Amino acid sequence: MKLLIPLLAFLPLAVVCLPFVDFINPDIFSRTIHQKNPVFSGEVGQVLKDNTPGCNWGTFQLCLADFITKSGLSAYDTSNATMMKMAVNQLLADGAKSGPTGAANSLIQLCRAQQVLYSQCLGLDQATQCISAIEFIRQGNTSNDGFGYQMLFTRLNFQCGVAFTSFIAHPMEVAQTPTNYSVRLDSCLDTFIGGNLNNDTVTEFCGPMEQYGECVGKIYTEAAQCSVDLGWSVCEATRLANIITLPECTDSQWACKLGTVGYNFYFLL
Ligand SMILES: *[C@@H]1O[C@H](CO)[C@@H](O)[C@H](O)[C@H]1NC(C)=O
Ligand SMILES: *[C@@H]1O[C@H](CO)[C@@H](O)[C@H](O)[C@H]1NC(C)=O
Ligand SMILES: *[C@@H]1O[C@H](CO)[C@@H](O)[C@H](O)[C@H]1NC(C)=O
Ligand SMILES: *[C@@H]1O[C@H](CO)[C@@H](O)[C@H](O)[C@H]1NC(C)=O
Repeated sequence: MKLLIPLLAFLPLAVVCLPFVDFINPDIFSRTIHQKNPVFSGEVGQVLKDNTPGCNWGTFQLCLADFITKSGLSAYDTSNATMMKMAVNQLLADGAKSGPTGAANSLIQLCRAQQVLYSQCLGLDQATQCISAIEFIRQGNTSNDGFGYQMLFTRLNFQCGVAFTSFIAHPMEVAQTPTNYSVRLDSCLDTFIGGNLNNDTVTEFCGPMEQYGECVGKIYTEAAQCSVDLGWSVCEATRLANIITLPECTDSQWACKLGTVGYNFYFLL
C-alpha cells in the first residue's frame, strides 16, 4: 500500500471541495507528502508492474452501473469520484425533503445497492481487487479518482455494514448535517490543513488526521442530540477512508477516541 502514495505526487494541489465532508480529499496530501518524504519515490509504472491485475474490469463496470441504478444515483452526475461523492450527499438530502421516512428510505436504498455490489454482483474477492485505487489507475482513471473511489466505497462499506444501525438511527442528521453544519465542518478541514501541511514527516500527519476525524465526529454527535454512537461511527468512517492515503497511520494509537470524551462530558453534566 505504501507504494501507492507516490501516484498522488503527480497531482496538482487542487481546490478543496467538501461534498461528502467526512473524509479528506486525497488531493490535499499529494504534493506535500511526496515532497517531504524521500521514502516515497516510486513511480507509477513500477507500481503497476509490481501488481498483477486480479480484477475482471468488464464485470466490475457492469456491477458499478448496476449499483448506480439500484441506489438511485443515476438521477445525478456520477462521472468521476468527486461527482459521485456529491451525488451520494444529494441523494440523501433529497430523501430528507420528505422527512425522516424519506431520509431513511434513501439510506436503505443506497445501502441495499452497496450490499448487492459487494456480496452478490462482485463477491468479496472481486470487490477487494476491483475497488482499489491501483485498478482504477490501471484502467486510465486519474489517481485522484482512483483514490477517491476507493475512499468512497470503503466508507460506504462501513456505513452500510457494521455501522448501519448507527446511521439508520439518525437519518435526518446523516442527510442534513453536511449542509447545516458546513461552516463548522469546513473549519475542521482548515485546522487540519493549517496544522499539518508544514510538517516534515508523514507520521506527523497521524495526530492531525485523528483530530480531524474527531472534529467531524463531534459535530455529528451534537447534531444528533449527543449521540456519541453516531459521532464515533462518522469518525471511524472518516478514519477508514483517510488511512488509505495515510497507511502509516493505521496504528490503534490514532483510533477515534470520541467515546471517552463523550462519557466524560456526560459525567460532568
Ligand atoms: C468531475 O466532473 C465534473 C463534471 O463533469 C467536472 O466539472 C470536474 O472538473 C471533474 N473533477 C475532477 C477532479 O475530475
Ligand atoms: C475510469 O476510466 C475509464 C477508462 O478511461 C472510463 O471509461 C471510466 O468511465 C472511468 N470511471 C470509472 C468509474 O470507471
Ligand atoms: C437543518 O436545517 C434545516 C433548515 O434550517 C432544518 O429545518 C432542519 O431541521 C435541520 N436538520 C437537522 C438534522 O438539524
Ligand atoms: C505536526 O505534527 C505534530 C505531531 O502530530 C502536531 O502536534 C503539530 O500540530 C503538527 N503541525 C505543525 C505545524 O507542527
